[in-house]
Amino acid sequence: MTNIQAIVAQMTLEEKAALCTGASAWTTTPVERLDLPELLVSDGPHGIRRQPDIHAMAQKSLPATCFPTASSLAATWDTELIYEMGQALAEEAIALKVDVVLGPGANMKRTPLCGRNFEYFSEDPYLAGDLAASLINGIQSKGVGTSLKHFAANNQEFERFAISAEIDERTLREIYLPAFETAVTKAKPWTVMCAYNKVNGTYASEHHRLLTDILKNEWGFEGFVVSDWGAVHDRVAALQAGLDLEMPGPKQTRVNAVIEAVRDGVLNEAVLDEAVRRIVQIVCRAAQTPKGGDFDAAAHHTLARKVAAEGMVLLKNNGLLPLQNPQHIAVIGRAAQKAHFQGGGSSHINPTQVDVPFNELQKLAGNAELSFAAGYPEDASFEQGLIDEAVATAKVADVALLHIALPSFKESEGYDRPDLDLTEQQVALIQAVTAVQPNTVVILNNGAPVVVRDWIDGTAAVLEAWMMGQAGGGAIADVLFGRTNPSGKLAETYPIKLADTPAHLNFPGENGVVHYGEGLFIGYRYYDAREVPVQFPFGYGLSYTTFAYSNPQVSAATFKDVDGITVSVDVTNTGSMVGKEIVQVYVHDQEARLVRPYKELKGFAKVELQPGETKTVTIPLDFRAFAYYDPAYRQWVTEDGQVDILIGASATDIRSTVTVTLQSTLQLPSVLHRESTIRAWLEDPYGKKAFEPMYQQMMAQLNHIFGGDDDGSSENIGMDTAGFMLDMPLLSILHFQEEALTQPADDIVALLLEQVHGTGG
Ligand code: BGC
Repeated sequence: MTNIQAIVAQMTLEEKAALCTGASAWTTTPVERLDLPELLVSDGPHGIRRQPDIHAMAQKSLPATCFPTASSLAATWDTELIYEMGQALAEEAIALKVDVVLGPGANMKRTPLCGRNFEYFSEDPYLAGDLAASLINGIQSKGVGTSLKHFAANNQEFERFAISAEIDERTLREIYLPAFETAVTKAKPWTVMCAYNKVNGTYASEHHRLLTDILKNEWGFEGFVVSDWGAVHDRVAALQAGLDLEMPGPKQTRVNAVIEAVRDGVLNEAVLDEAVRRIVQIVCRAAQTPKGGDFDAAAHHTLARKVAAEGMVLLKNNGLLPLQNPQHIAVIGRAAQKAHFQGGGSSHINPTQVDVPFNELQKLAGNAELSFAAGYPEDASFEQGLIDEAVATAKVADVALLHIALPSFKESEGYDRPDLDLTEQQVALIQAVTAVQPNTVVILNNGAPVVVRDWIDGTAAVLEAWMMGQAGGGAIADVLFGRTNPSGKLAETYPIKLADTPAHLNFPGENGVVHYGEGLFIGYRYYDAREVPVQFPFGYGLSYTTFAYSNPQVSAATFKDVDGITVSVDVTNTGSMVGKEIVQVYVHDQEARLVRPYKELKGFAKVELQPGETKTVTIPLDFRAFAYYDPAYRQWVTEDGQVDILIGASATDIRSTVTVTLQSTLQLPSVLHRESTIRAWLEDPYGKKAFEPMYQQMMAQLNHIFGGDDDGSSENIGMDTAGFMLDMPLLSILHFQEEALTQPADDIVALLLEQVHGTGG
C-alpha cells in the first residue's frame, strides 16, 4: 500500500490526468519514470479477444478458446465448473499478455428481446450474482483481473448509448443491483465497467450515487471503475462521480480537461488522486502475474465441450433421446455444418478450433449413415427448394436432427431482437420435416428464448444448445447419444409469445426514456404475479433419468433473521442412468408491508446421483434471503411472520413446502411525518401508541357529526367514516375540525411526531 501511495505522491498532475485516460484502445498510460507499466485489458466475457494491435478496436483477434456464452453457463447452475472455466480463461489471458478480462456481464434479462442477452446470465439476480462471482473468482484466482459489467441497468441495446432507464429505488435495489452487489462482495473484481446508458436521467458514467455511494462506499468495492468504451461525456463530471479510468484512448482533450479543472479549482485534486490510487493499485497487482507462454488449447477445448454439454437444456423428449442406434440419420440445417456458437460484437472470439456438429455426430453414430440438407438460407430469404430437399432427406431416415440457429441479423450486441421468432423459413422447415418424420429432434442455437408454439408439437425432442462455444458440436453429440445425461436448467423463462413478456408494454422506450414499469416483476416474478402460462418455466430442464425429493427439513422452525436457516432435502435418482439434478429453493413471504413477488430464488445446489442413489442436499438461507428493500427506511428489511420455503425442481415444479417463523431483529425507526395518513399512524407501532387515544376520540366525534352508527357507517353522508378517514392525512382531518381543537392542528401533529421520533426528530 505504502508503495502505491508513494507512486501517487511522486506523480505530476499531468501524469495523473494521463493515467485516468487510456493510452490506446486496450491499454492504460504507463509512467516509465516511476516504473509503472501499462495495464492491458481485453474482452471478454467467454473468451479472450486479444487484438494483436492495441490501437485496433475490431481486428481479427489472436486465437483463443471460445467457451459457451453466459446463457449457456447460467443453465449449468454449476458454480464449480464456471470457476474452472474462469481459471482456463485466466491461463489464456496470461499467455496472451492480458491483465484484465472485460467481463462477466451481470445485467438482468428484463426482456428476451435484448440483443445482448446471450452475454448475460439470468432473469434472476440471485442466480446471476452467484454465477458471476464464480467466474470472477476463477479468473482472479490466477492473478488475472476482471471487469464486472455493465454497471448498471444496461438491459437493452436500443439507444444504449443514451437511453435513460427509469427505475424506482426498490426495483433497482432488488432486481438490477443485487447481481453486481453479490459479485462485488463475494468475488472482489479488480474493476467494474460502467454502462453506457443513463439511470434515472444521469449517465452511468457520471452517476455518483451508483459509482461512489453504492459501489465503493456501501459495497466496499476496492478496485477501479472503468468506462464502457466511449461511455464518458464529461470527463471531469465522471471523475467526480467516481469513474476512475476512461477507455478507450488516447484522448488528449480529456487529459487536458482534467488538468485544467484541477488548476482552475473546479476539480479537487484529492478526487483525482483517489482515482489514480485505485488504478495504480490494480496496475501493480497485475504486474505481479508474469505474462506470456502458452495455454493448453486442447485441454481448454475439452473443458469447453464439458461446459457446453452441462449447459444444454432438454426442453422436450418423448423418449426418442438418447438415440438408440439409428441406422440412418438425416442431419438438417446449415448450423450442423457451420456451427453457430457465439454472438456478434465485442465478445466475438477467434476460436482455436471449431467442432462441426455433423462430424461430431458421425463420430458417435457408429455405422449409421448420415445424410445432410442445409434446410434454410443464410439470410432472411425464403427458399422452398431447401425445404423440399430437407423433407426428402428426412423422410427416408430413422431420425432427423434439425439444427436451427437464430441468425446474427436477428440477435447480436448493438441491436435488439425485433421479435422472438425463428426465421419464417426455419419455422416452415421444422413444420415440413416433422410432418414426414415423427422422430425429429430440434437442436436450437440461440442466446435467448424463441417462440416454439408454432412448431413444437410435431417434434419428438427439443434441445436448447445455446451459443455453445467452439466445442458445442461435440457437446450436442454427447447429449444426443447419451454420453452426457442432460442436466441444464433454464436460467430464464421461455414465454409462449412475445406479448406475454414482462416488459412488453414498456420496451424499448421512447424519446430517450425507458420506464421499467413492471418494477420488481421480471421473469418468473411476473408470470407468477399475472398468472400468465409459460412455455417452459425458469429452472426447468429434462433429464434421461428421474429424481424424487423426500424428507424436506429446516434447521429451525422459528429463527432470527440474522441467524438464517439451513434447508435440506433428500434427492434420489429413481431412473436407470447417472444424472445431475438442480435443486432450487424459493422463499415466499406470506405477508409483508410492501408488495412482494410470490416467490424468489434464494438458493440452489447441483448434485450428481448414480441410479438408485440418494443424497442430502443442504442449502443455507441468510438474512438477505428473507429481506426486501424498503425505500422508506433506505435499508433491507425483515418482518416478523410466516415464510414458506419452497423446494423445487423448477419455478413451477415445487416438490415440498415448509413453513417457518421469522423473527426480525430490526428496530426500525418510525418514518411518520407531517403528512402521514391515519392508516400510517395506526400501522406504525410508535405512532399507534402515541395516536390511538386521540383516534378513538376523533372517531366518536366524527360519528356524531355524520350521524353515524356504532359500526362506523354514516347515515348523513352514506359512507364508512372510518374507511374514509384512513387514507386522509391526520393533519388534514384536524384542519377540518380546527375550531373545535384546543391547539392549532399543526401543533398537535408536531407534538405527536415529537413523541414518536423524540425531540428534534
Ligand atoms: C461493450 C463492452 C466491451 C467494450 C470493449 C463495448 O462496446 O459494451 O462490453 O467490453 O465495448 O470492447
